Amino acid sequence: MKYWTRALAAAALLGASPLVAQSPSDPLEPAGRWTANMRGAAATPPMGWNSWNAFRTLINEERLMGTARALVDTGLASAGYRYVNIDDGWWLKRRQSDKRMLIRTNIFPSAAVKGSRHSSFRPITDRLHAMGLKAGIYSDIGYNSCSQAYDPQSPNLPEGTRAERQIGLRDNMERDIDLYFREWGFDYIKVDACGLHAFRPGTPPVEQRDFGVLGPFVDKASLNRTDIAGIRAMYAELGDVLARTNPDNDYIYSICLWGDANVREWGKNHGNAVRTSDDILPKWTRMLYTFDTAAHRPLYAQPGSWNDPDMLEIGNGEFDADHLTEARSHFSLWAMVNAPLLIGFDLSKLTPELLEILKNEDLIRAHQDPSGHQAIIAYGSQDVQTLVKSTSDPARKIVALFNRGNGTHEVTLLADHLKFANGAPIALRDLWSKARLAPFTGERKFTLKPRETLVFEAIGTRALANGVYVSEVPGMVNVAVDGVVRPEPDPMPHLGISPWNGTRDSARPVHGGRGGAQTDQTVYGEGIQIAGSGHRTGVGVLANSRLELNADGKYRRFTAEVGVDDNSRQLDMPVTFLVYGDGKLLTQSAPAKFGDKAQRLSADIGGAKIVELVVRQAEEPKLPASVAWADAALLTD
Ligand code: GLA
Repeated sequence: MKYWTRALAAAALLGASPLVAQSPSDPLEPAGRWTANMRGAAATPPMGWNSWNAFRTLINEERLMGTARALVDTGLASAGYRYVNIDDGWWLKRRQSDKRMLIRTNIFPSAAVKGSRHSSFRPITDRLHAMGLKAGIYSDIGYNSCSQAYDPQSPNLPEGTRAERQIGLRDNMERDIDLYFREWGFDYIKVDACGLHAFRPGTPPVEQRDFGVLGPFVDKASLNRTDIAGIRAMYAELGDVLARTNPDNDYIYSICLWGDANVREWGKNHGNAVRTSDDILPKWTRMLYTFDTAAHRPLYAQPGSWNDPDMLEIGNGEFDADHLTEARSHFSLWAMVNAPLLIGFDLSKLTPELLEILKNEDLIRAHQDPSGHQAIIAYGSQDVQTLVKSTSDPARKIVALFNRGNGTHEVTLLADHLKFANGAPIALRDLWSKARLAPFTGERKFTLKPRETLVFEAIGTRALANGVYVSEVPGMVNVAVDGVVRPEPDPMPHLGISPWNGTRDSARPVHGGRGGAQTDQTVYGEGIQIAGSGHRTGVGVLANSRLELNADGKYRRFTAEVGVDDNSRQLDMPVTFLVYGDGKLLTQSAPAKFGDKAQRLSADIGGAKIVELVVRQAEEPKLPASVAWADAALLTD
């Protein structure tokens, strides 16, 4: 199938959403507008609490309302933690006469409606709202939920006939969303995908416990056996239903598809938070695993839609009050990558030290910065990483130095990592100890204790005085088309042990959705190099791609050095680079082949709102060229 035909077939499945890119012919044609999701209340990443990590399915009204009171009393609510989210375990059954969902009122007594056969969460959401909080609920995109597959011993599983136990959104999307948002007053929904994954033919629930089988399937072990377009269409439809049901726009749509079904590429067009991995556990190495899945995709998150490496484990297991170094690192990392900050701890056990971590106002300020730039990895090895986060003030960056392992490491921070001038002083303030360090120029060495993360606010002189490098402002970039033809599993730096099978797992840990556009490196993770010349900054992407830059009328010129990267796997077919401003072609390169020197592009963008960067390959190759918009910058003069 031709590239366009394939893309159109996928687009046709998406229905009539006005916010999804729907070029009538060619997805590389400029859209002339921002096509990532802007619906819902997620201009900055959500903050709150979720019941799962603390209580699994053993959530109840007392625990929920106790948490709500604790959020208010400890000052966490005024620090920003507003959403109080119920996860799996709340449902009793789907009543067959009218398909209405019934609540397990033995654990949520206030949900029992006297003199009626209904149950309603309204009394509980009213109380949460009166406390200045917001309320979240949980469902599944298929017929059945994760606990029905993985927690068969839970006392809080849905009951009744097979049909009564079908508590997910499938076949009842409009009805359930109307009930949850209009009637019950929820403000947030997390939508899991176990219904498409854990109930395939041959699985224990289907074989042993009378559950039906339903596609399209998510096969975690194989993207080839995952119906990406079918699954995307279901989550896209739900995005539209949520927008219609919530005309005040005060809702959050969290897609919980664990990084599978290539959700990296499309989740940002529909949801406000997109899970990038399978579940976190209160273990250091598991935290590394989920963190890595989000940390390598800064260009796929922006105001309105955030990468979600799962909920916080601070307070639990290896992040408890006896492991404050680990707890601080976990919190620092989630703040740096703009992950939703959802506490997953039983707050009745809170200690002053844990509270201080969760309330670190400097880190929360960085996390909630309205520019929405996820940190990029300025240096990364298996041992240590240097993460740099831009803020709305171009001369103020947040930098985290992270020791992933159990040994001590020396880390050198360079002015270059910050994209600050080499000869000018850089002031650092430690966002954990609050100490101000003597300014340094060029570079400065730090010693990191095992598992320690140092986080600094860095104030310096920008290397690029009259604008921004595209790779330092990922919140302004939407990768509308990333050129990935056949998604491959991510080469996760940290391969996590499966929480379900432990080391008995004969399958290798894999993860959906390889590659895509990268900051300051190629799509394959190498330094950018064109015809022998290295470039420290730029965006690496595949050919047949389109990036949207939210320039918002603030810049006058776009410049870049463009070409095929020396590490490209495709060496034969020339590519052309095109720059558009608000839908109009401004400049384009000559055809560029592997081995050609970089071409300098300079376009007068004259205050365009949306700048688009398109790379076309002459023919449609099976493996598109790896190309670079090296040194790409938006300039003010
Ligand atoms: C899945 C999700 C978890 C949690 C459980 C509930 O595993 O990834 O975050 O919601 O289901 O059963």
